[in-house]
Amino acid sequence: MADQTPILVQDIYAPLGSAFTPSMLTARYAPGAGWYGKSIGSRRPLQLDPATVGLHYGQAAFEGLKAYRQPGGGLALFRPLEYARRLAASCERMAIPPVDPATMVEWWREFCDHEQAHLRPGPDSAIYLRPLIIATDCVLGARPSREYLLLLLAVHSTPLADSSKHHLDVLVTTEFVRSSPGGLGSAKTPGNYGAAMRALQAAREAGCDQVLWLDAGRRRWIEELGSMNVAFVIDNTLVTPQTGDTILAGVTRDSILTIAREHGIGCEERPVALEEVTAAMSWKGLTEAFACSTGAGLTQIGSLLIGQQRLTLPAETPVADRLRRLLSELAHGRADDPWGWRLPV
Ligand SMILES: Cc1ncc(COP(=O)(O)O)c(C=O)c1O
Repeated sequence: MADQTPILVQDIYAPLGSAFTPSMLTARYAPGAGWYGKSIGSRRPLQLDPATVGLHYGQAAFEGLKAYRQPGGGLALFRPLEYARRLAASCERMAIPPVDPATMVEWWREFCDHEQAHLRPGPDSAIYLRPLIIATDCVLGARPSREYLLLLLAVHSTPLADSSKHHLDVLVTTEFVRSSPGGLGSAKTPGNYGAAMRALQAAREAGCDQVLWLDAGRRRWIEELGSMNVAFVIDNTLVTPQTGDTILAGVTRDSILTIAREHGIGCEERPVALEEVTAAMSWKGLTEAFACSTGAGLTQIGSLLIGQQRLTLPAETPVADRLRRLLSELAHGRADDPWGWRLPV
């Protein structure tokens, strides 16, 4: 039977990232009480003291995960425990008391249950969840907060399959770096993204869509692409930089590596030098390059701008197309789930 959920016209056309679902979940942390007061209510503006620590000093952590429409009409969260563990790790890095990952997953599940009546029609619909934890002490002083606020909101997301419609022209930046050893690169914390804005602006000024980040030390090793992981097909092998403390360990990256190995595609996680990629492009051993993330799916790289030289990548991406399709089928419950990645809401 066709889904009868009414949708507002302005909602359908809202740009990605601002088509919010109607509710939000909140919880608070205080010493002695731990995390308490979880509740779900209407999405509404916050009231924060102007001296809120998280606003001034960036003590905060967040996540981004999805719940996908299933054949029966309901929703299933995709690999929620992985995201909850990563949120806990980001919290540890930011001196924030983490929420126990199992509790976090249960709160996400309850929230999705609450929002699923608003899911858009269509077998490929999904919502993107954004949990955020922010320090809420009111003091002008850079030290870990005692109190925290957790927020959870959601936006409608475009189908995973739609990421095949785009390609990225990419500026290889040697001017800016995203992260450095001992820094915050493996944590999802707002400062990482604020620090990347100027580089993204430079990319746009150069006629590009995104930035390819190199390592802070030698500006030689490829790390990430914008706020996505990056992968190449070189000599029929899927090659991606190994994660460490300068690279966010993407769940999408891990999912496609797992799926690729299951389907007999050779995979290598290892340091990837920029000159290896350009050399492989010249001898035509590099046949695909793409970025991957929960929010943006698998998006091919159309070109690399290195200095004044623009190198064009192959237009066809059969490996990425196959992995995107397999990932989408799995996330939407249209394929077996051998790794137990779906959590029905
Ligand atoms: C910096 C960064 N790298 C990579 C990713 C991809 O991670 P995931 O696949 O878990 O979304 C993200 C997430 O959006 C990110 O913020």
